[in-house]
Amino acid sequence: MTQDIQGIIDETVEMNMKLYSPQAVMLERGEGCYAYDTQGGKCLDFAAGIAVASLGHAHPKLVKTISDQAAKIMACQGSYVTDAKHEATKLLVDNGCFDEVYFSNSGTESVELALKLARKWSYDNKGPECNELITFHNSFHGRTYGSASVTEKRNSQPFFNPYLPGVHFAHFNDLASVEALVSKEKTAGILIEPVQGEGGLTPAEDGFLQGLRALCDRHDIPLIFDEIQCGAGRMGTLYAYQSFKGENGQPIEPDVVCLAKGIGSGFPVGAVLAKKKFASAMVPGTHGTTYGGNPLACAVVACVINELQSQGFLANVQAMSSKLMDGLSALQSSSNKINRITGKGLMVGFSTAVPIKDMIGALRKNGLMTTQAGSDLVRLTPPLIAGEDEIKEALSIIETTLKQDF
Ligand SMILES: Cc1ncc(COP(=O)(O)O)c(C=O)c1O
Repeated sequence: MTQDIQGIIDETVEMNMKLYSPQAVMLERGEGCYAYDTQGGKCLDFAAGIAVASLGHAHPKLVKTISDQAAKIMACQGSYVTDAKHEATKLLVDNGCFDEVYFSNSGTESVELALKLARKWSYDNKGPECNELITFHNSFHGRTYGSASVTEKRNSQPFFNPYLPGVHFAHFNDLASVEALVSKEKTAGILIEPVQGEGGLTPAEDGFLQGLRALCDRHDIPLIFDEIQCGAGRMGTLYAYQSFKGENGQPIEPDVVCLAKGIGSGFPVGAVLAKKKFASAMVPGTHGTTYGGNPLACAVVACVINELQSQGFLANVQAMSSKLMDGLSALQSSSNKINRITGKGLMVGFSTAVPIKDMIGALRKNGLMTTQAGSDLVRLTPPLIAGEDEIKEALSIIETTLKQDF
């Protein structure tokens, strides 16, 4: 790296709050599943901004959509309807089980609205004592106060106290642990990632989600899915909930879903969708945001959903998920160096005996961008446009890296 570029990196890092360990290269551009740095380095991007770039980088339709919409109108108050908002709303509602949408700007903001909605509905229908929330060990829901309060990490970050009171942590995939905490009179909502992301890429079992659904129905409690990482096509279905089936073969529907990341494919936008019964709790004055539902964000969402719904797109995600999982299993057998493989859809992880930071660094040097999940997992969240060639290339880089001495 020339002194110049290292200098720019150092200066930029110095002037930003030190919230991340800096990367060794400076990114310049992306195209499809690849990211390019300023030194001409090319990397297969199986991080995708942590499950963000669902359509890959510089997707021609998305680039055109953004440019066309920017030339038309980008900003207006949330009280205005635009063509873009109409289209994005209809696509989100017509392709799932929800009735109403709230547009936010990020994942954490989606979670904030969902928590307020749950408490408001419970206050209106059950009274002020009904304000407790149940969430899960190893959960991750965001970093603002509400979402951080329902994220297990709060227990290791006492310097941010006091968090929201009345939050209980149950064990993932353990219905009895939820039953022990739930109360018809006190529980305002149950919030769960159908596939835990940061906490370790753990998919919920169908039977567990079905049990939660029944519990919520019995006690009249809103069931909230955080699909911020696992939704928007990543499970091979538009919504993640559509990939979890009850005993009757039908999808297990939540009452509320939180989205962000993949629905914008890089543009910062989020959404919460809810069934009418619960959505009706939110009335003027209870929530809102300046940028929520802005025409540019909505145009992006409409473009992304149209792509995800296009012929063969989600089937390809399912097929590539199987290829990636099968390929990792084959590498596990042949190399004897993979301890564990986990995940669902195109949200996959594996662990090795190599310290995780070293493994991710080596993969990066060998041309594959990945991220860490949990304490020891290499997380693979490729763009959903990845095809056989990219999956093969990723597996080949992983194979080469596993052969290295650390
Ligand atoms: C499951 C889940 N919920 C919420 C969030 C927070 O989203 P954001 O970083 O956009 O605020 C994330 C981000 O990683 C996430 O993975």
